Parts: sequence; C-alpha cells; structure tokens
Amino acid sequence: MAQPGDGRSIGVFDSGVGGLTVLAELRRRLPQEPTVYLGDNARTPYGPRPADEVRRFTLESVDWLLSQDVKLLVLACNTATARALDDVRGRSDVPVVGVVRPGAVAAAAATRSRHVGVIATVGTVDSGAYPAAIVEADPATDVVQLACPELVPMAEAGILDGRRAESVLRAYLEPMLAADPAMDTLLLGCTHYPLLRGPIERIVGDRVAVVDSAFTTALAVEDLLDALGARAPRAPRDEASMHRVATTGDVNAFMTVAERLFGERLPQVEAIEIGVVAPLPVD
Ligand code: DGL
Repeated sequence: MAQPGDGRSIGVFDSGVGGLTVLAELRRRLPQEPTVYLGDNARTPYGPRPADEVRRFTLESVDWLLSQDVKLLVLACNTATARALDDVRGRSDVPVVGVVRPGAVAAAAATRSRHVGVIATVGTVDSGAYPAAIVEADPATDVVQLACPELVPMAEAGILDGRRAESVLRAYLEPMLAADPAMDTLLLGCTHYPLLRGPIERIVGDRVAVVDSAFTTALAVEDLLDALGARAPRAPRDEASMHRVATTGDVNAFMTVAERLFGERLPQVEAIEIGVVAPLPVD
C-alpha cells in the first residue's frame, strides 16, 4: 500500500528506450518524485510479438520493478498496456497506470468531429485496446486505426525527420486521411511516435490535432498520488541518485539509442537479467 508522504520510487516499464518519452513527462510534471525505469531491450520490440509472449515478458519485467519497492507502476509501453494491463494489475500490490486510457482521454478531448485516427504497433492495433478506450471515453466517436511496423525501427535508427522519414510516414498517413476525411485527431499510440511528431504534423496539416499519451499519463499519475496522499516529501535530493535506469539489454547500446533519440546523456544505466531471450516471430 502506498503511504502518505511516500518517498518510494515510481516504477516505469517499457519494452525498450521509447518509454523515456513518458518518463521525461513524468519528471517534468513531478520533479520531486524518484523514479526507476526498466527497458526490456533484450526482448524488444514487443509490437510484432504474439499476445501471450508480450504478457509473459511484461509480467517478468514488472516483477523486477516490484522487487525495487516502488509505490506505483507506470506501463509506459502501449503494446504492454494493450496486452497485459489487467494481468499486471492482478499481480501488483501497488496501483498500475497504463498509457492507453490516458491516450484515449487525450484524443476524446481533442476531437471536434469525433473522428479519431490511431497509429500504433501491430500488437496494439490487434488488441483493439485503443478503439475500446476511446469509445468508452466518448461512445459517439469513430475510430480508425493503423499498424505502422516500420516506424519503431526507423526511429531507433535515428531517422526522425528528413526525406526518408517523410516518405515512410506519407505512405502510412495519406491513405488513412483519405479514407476518413472527417478525421481531425491523430493519436500516437506508440512510445516512439512522439519522436516523429514534426514530420507527422507537417503531413497531416493544421486540420488534424496530433496527440499522445505522455502528458495525460503524467496527469493520471499526479491525480493518483494526490488521491493516495502518496507524493514524495519535498526533501533536498541528489538528482542523479533519484532516477535509476535499468535495461535487460546491452548498456552501451541502450545509452547510444537513448542519446540518439533524446540528445541527452543518461546517468549510469544498470544491466539486469530476467527471463529468457526469445527470437522474433518470422512473417
Ligand atoms: N514500446 C512499444 C509501444 O509503445 C514500441 C516498441 C516495441 O514494439 O516494443 O508499443
């Protein structure tokens, strides 16, 4: 149970580096909160993997975070949230916030036409989690979703703008926009896509609001901490020791990709071992 004035960390999970977009928003909004981030880089990407594998990997990763004495868990990974949120809640003795509901709330608040597009990984799209959550937030909303499997590898390779990024994005987005000309909101349903926001906004134009779940997830965490009386006490702290980052993969590779994507050198990254590395399914 979270306790009043709880100085324990917030645990943040992602399949890899992408969840740092959510961590950055949490740290901006809640600067006094210590965090521990885990990226399951040894088994990333989760997007193309079967649902039961994503569930297993997520639970194994979450077990490690729970062993770090966290007061709250954030599933920053859309695919893990879409596939495993209920299982994680069943396992966890601390509250769990996923990114799908906050993303759906952001989209429902942004749309005027009630036509929303969602782009995400194959796993997230297959789960149907976003259409269900958006319709729950506003039952009158039409949702069109599209899996964009090329975007995560492209972003991880550091291709975040320019001709190649634009042509890959156009190939996904233009047919989507043409299929629903009333679409006025595009939800970025994957941790990596906010890194491509610039070219995405240029392609969809002013008519379409581009939203993601990072900001609304941080708000949901803040509300929950307030409801539980579990904000960290405002004690003077050393920034570096307040925020731990761990990976199941190679530490140097993690730091290289994180630096490429976020332009920021991370503090010491811890290497941890969990579960068994499994090959990706072949098409
Ligand atoms: N973190 C994943 C998500 O938000 C993207 C990367 C992956 O496929 O593992 O869906």
